[in-house]
Formats: sequence, C-alpha cells, structure tokens
Amino acid sequence: MEQQAHFEAVLAADERIEPRDWMPEKYRATLIRQIAQHAHSEIIGMQPEGAWLTRAPSLRRKAILLAKVQDEAGHGMYLYSAAETLGVDRADLLDRLHTGTQKYSTIFNYPTLTWADVGVIGWLVDGAAIVNQVPLCRCSYGPYARAMIRICKEESFHQRQGFEMLLALRDGTDAQREMLQDAVNRWWWPSLMMFGPPDAASTNSAQSMAWRIKRHSNDELRQRFVDMTAPQADVLGVKLPDEKLRWNAERNSYDFGEIDWDEFARVVKGDGPCNAERIERRVAAHTEGAWVREAALAYAKKQAAKVDA
Ligand code: 3HC
Repeated sequence: MEQQAHFEAVLAADERIEPRDWMPEKYRATLIRQIAQHAHSEIIGMQPEGAWLTRAPSLRRKAILLAKVQDEAGHGMYLYSAAETLGVDRADLLDRLHTGTQKYSTIFNYPTLTWADVGVIGWLVDGAAIVNQVPLCRCSYGPYARAMIRICKEESFHQRQGFEMLLALRDGTDAQREMLQDAVNRWWWPSLMMFGPPDAASTNSAQSMAWRIKRHSNDELRQRFVDMTAPQADVLGVKLPDEKLRWNAERNSYDFGEIDWDEFARVVKGDGPCNAERIERRVAAHTEGAWVREAALAYAKKQAAKVDA
C-alpha cells in the first residue's frame, strides 16, 4: 500500500506522476481516455478548416491557415505520444476512433459554410480550447502537462489569427459583416459545448479533479470563456446569439442562456451534421496513408541496422 501512499503524496504536493511511477489502473485508464480523445479531436479538427485551404482569399491567409492546420496535426502527434507513455499503441487508439469506441469533440461535427467560419473557429473554438487547456499544463501527469505547454502557445497564435481575420471582415463590406454575424450565430453555442456537460451531469469530473487531472470544473471554465469572449464580440460589432446574455454586476460575470443539451447528446452519439463525413474522410486518409507508415518503418529499420552494424 505504500505505492498508493506515495502516489497520493505526489498529488498532494502538486508534483508530477511520471510514466515509470506506480499509478492506480483507473488513473491510467482515465488519462488514456482523455488524452486519446483530445488527440482524436486535434486530427479530426483539421478537416473543417482544411476545406478552405484551396479557397483562402489571399496567399497570406492561405499560408496562415496551412500553418494552423499543420499545427493541429502536430498537436495530435504530441498527444498520441503522451498517451503511448501509458502503455497503449497509437494504432489501437486510431482503431477506437475509426470504430467509434472513442470520441472526439462535438465541435468538429459542424460544417464550415463560409470563409468567416475559419476566422470564427480561430476566435471561438481555439479561444475555448485555450481556456480549457491552459489548466491542463498543471495536470498531475507529466507527459500530458508538458505536451500542453507547447500546444497552448500554438493555440494562442490560432486564436489571434482568427480574431485578426474577423477584424478585417468587420471593417469590410456589409456583406462581409453579415457573413461574420452568420458564422457567429452558428458557432457560439457549439463552442460552449466544448467544455463538456454541466457539472451535475459530468461523470468524470469529481475523480479527475481529485487526481488533479482536471483543475477546474466544466461550468467554471465555460463561465470563464463567456466572460472573456463577450467583450470581444463588442469589439467585433457582432451580437452573440443569446437573448439572456447580460453582465451581472453582483456576480461580476455574465449571465447566459441554457445550452441545448439534447443537441449535445445527439452530436456526441454521432447524429451531428458532419459526423459520418468526418469519420469517412479520416478512415480514407488512414488507409491511403498506409504506404507512408510502411515506408517510415522500413527507413527506421534500415537506420537501426546501420547503427547496430
Ligand atoms: N464532445 C464529445 N464528448 C464530450 C464533450 C464534447 N464536447 N464534452 C464531454 N464529452 C464526453 C466526455 O468525453 C465523457 O465521455 P467519456 O467518459 O466516454 O469520455 C462525457 O462526455 C462526460 O463528460 P465529462 O465532463 O465527465 O468528461 P471529462 O471529465 O473528460 O471532461 C473535457 C470533458 C472537458 C472535454 C475533458 O475531457 C478535457 O478537458 N479534455 C481535454 C481537452 C479536449 O479534449 N478538448 C477537445 C477539443 S480539442 C481542441 O480544442 C483542438 C483545438 O485545436 C481547437
């Protein structure tokens, strides 16, 4: 039992559990679940924006979007690598994504209908990601916390490039301002769902917080995001699609309306606007990319043989 005592002492001292340390099997399983689903979200998240790479309105915007989509692939790679320190294999994790036994964030099951969507994803989706993921830099599991430090730095670039793009639309034509407002109307509520179900319905929060994996509750981070974003909407000259959104001086926070948890549950279950298309494209890319994995493995074997020779 002294292993359990040591594990608890490390958590109590707010220090890190490392791959070679003893850990409760449920702690390991929770981390594999969360890190794998985070990684799956990153690689699926490449698709909505990827649809606009060939249609970006300028070379500068295309270069920025290319860099961002490549970053998302890199985030997936860091996170699959972090998950593998827990004794799982990324090929198996990808199977679980492809067969639906592991999830990815609902936010990536919505279509990107106009160029404004690309900027709104940067502003709202990457903005929500930062609020949700900065606390993960202090997660009790070392490899996950360290992966998050670099990911959060890159997410900040993603959020800023999105906001800067939206300023250009704000200062453009009436049609561009309408396009901007339309995208905000479609992405606001799904972005709030990224923080997970209400605390009362969160099956994992209590244990994840006890293990210092999750440092703040779903509702707490959602509120932090609303409080940060509402003033930014004023700068953009857009109206957030929530009649109940208003500043509450007593609470020193914004009150906001009820999220449609039926929609959330439907999209989690696979019944969102783009679920089938996203998985189909993912599986096709994985199949068509088999030769790249085989070539990389053959090259690695050759290099290893040279070293041993
Ligand atoms: N989409 C899909 N599933 C969701 C979800 C969402 N938006 N929110 C919650 N869920 C699932 C949970 O995975 C859990 O199901 P499971 O037990 O089968 O895994 C169930 O709903 C109950 O939710 P809980 O609150 O109990 O689950 P967690 O404690 O895991 O909290 C979380 C959910 C806040 C998303 C947490 O897992 C987390 O912080 N994950 C790391 C960050 C992450 O994965 N973000 C996803 C977006 S990726 C991204 O932002 C990329 C950027 O480039 C834009």
